[in-house]
Amino acid sequence: MPLPAKRINLLRGWPSPDLLPANLLSAATQRILTTRSVYTPILEYGPSHGHPTLRTGLAQWLGHHYRVEPDVNRICVTGGASQSIANILLSFTDPAYTRSVWMIAPCYYLACGIFEDAGFSGRLRATPEDEEGVDIEALEAKISALEKQEENVSSEKLFKSPGAYRKFYRHVIYAVPTSSNPSGKTMSLRRREQLVKLARKYDALIICDDVYDFLQWPLQGEPTVERPPEMRLPRLCDIDLAMGPAENDLEGFGHAISNGSFSKLVGPGIRTGWVEAWPKFIIGLGRTGATLSGGAPSQLSAAILGELLGTGELQAYVEDAVRPELQKRHRAMMAAVHEHVTPAGVELRESSLAGAATYGGYFVWLTPKNGLPSKLIADRAVEEENLVIGYGNMFEVHGDEASLGFGKDIRLCFAWEDVEEITEGVKRLGNLLRRMNENRAYYESLPQKGHDDSFVDSYK
Ligand SMILES: Cc1ncc(COP(=O)(O)O)c(C=O)c1O
Repeated sequence: MPLPAKRINLLRGWPSPDLLPANLLSAATQRILTTRSVYTPILEYGPSHGHPTLRTGLAQWLGHHYRVEPDVNRICVTGGASQSIANILLSFTDPAYTRSVWMIAPCYYLACGIFEDAGFSGRLRATPEDEEGVDIEALEAKISALEKQEENVSSEKLFKSPGAYRKFYRHVIYAVPTSSNPSGKTMSLRRREQLVKLARKYDALIICDDVYDFLQWPLQGEPTVERPPEMRLPRLCDIDLAMGPAENDLEGFGHAISNGSFSKLVGPGIRTGWVEAWPKFIIGLGRTGATLSGGAPSQLSAAILGELLGTGELQAYVEDAVRPELQKRHRAMMAAVHEHVTPAGVELRESSLAGAATYGGYFVWLTPKNGLPSKLIADRAVEEENLVIGYGNMFEVHGDEASLGFGKDIRLCFAWEDVEEITEGVKRLGNLLRRMNENRAYYESLPQKGHDDSFVDSYK
């Protein structure tokens, strides 16, 4: 059988080149670099918490979206979600004090390396999702078992000092509560509240990658600018704020932060995001050594984005271009899945949020019923169909693969390829699965290649 000539990539989790707003960015850059009094503070070292126009614009935008009081003091500009996690870990954890990083799994796999680089190799622990986003009982059982086991472990010799402006947390919990990468699930309000309470009890910091919150749409009908409540559930940081200071946190650092990013709204190359958290936490984050020395990350990009938020162009772009386009691609993928993959036997979730009719983010998570290893399916997809897909082992928690495995699952991205390629790619996957079902013995006899993450850098 001849290999299809065109490679289709349903693994790559990047925005489509059709959705990169080069013209908007170019015009905004021209505007802010014309006048000396405007460009000087942009091109010099900037304040540690980020360019003021972006902080103000974000406070307004986020306040409106989540229905919270805008508060600039709760916002810090970052170099995007990934760099932001690294800075948070530098300032608020010490591997000699912080016991463990709890990763809701399957997880955004490139986050593992950030935690490992911060001294947590071998201490990342997988904790399962459930239908509502996180299995709270399982997580509590695991944390309390670890606390018992490490009761007598000394934390006296720390590697660093938190100083006056920061604190070290005893645990970190990493979550993507809305339209998760990779499962597509959105955590219910009930689970969000339970998770914040749990974090307060065990002095954990919940780092929420809220990078898909603005990218949600209804399953039926067009997306509306005024979103229904199920598409703007409170972030965990909003719930934490509403609960007031916890008993074990009288200084008010809080237990949940929102890690936002412009990567999926504008383009990853803009390398800018934000953290929203308690003001005390924001002050501490601004005191990360590299930030004190260099100023807030991504200063010029931040000023460009601040300009676009100020004029309303960025918000309009997300509403008029990004959301409808992702909705269109998601619909195309689901239609193709139902036509070509469902007949071969597969389990999947229609809605991000259980009990609602919404979807969001970039990804669909599928479990073929044939039970074949998804690494084998992914390898055969490249060999026989010129199709690249994500396989479940990629999304296991580094060092804790044995406790939660995803060797039978597949992740498909609907953001990178356009509608025609998405439809064709899913059709190729359906054809492959059918062939594999019919010739199971042959496929099982093929030599299986192990999981290899040397190429993942380019796929997110
Ligand atoms: C959950 C999650 N967090 C973080 C990132 C990377 O974010 P950034 O580009 O802002 O570093 C991604 C990218 O796919 C992601 O899916």
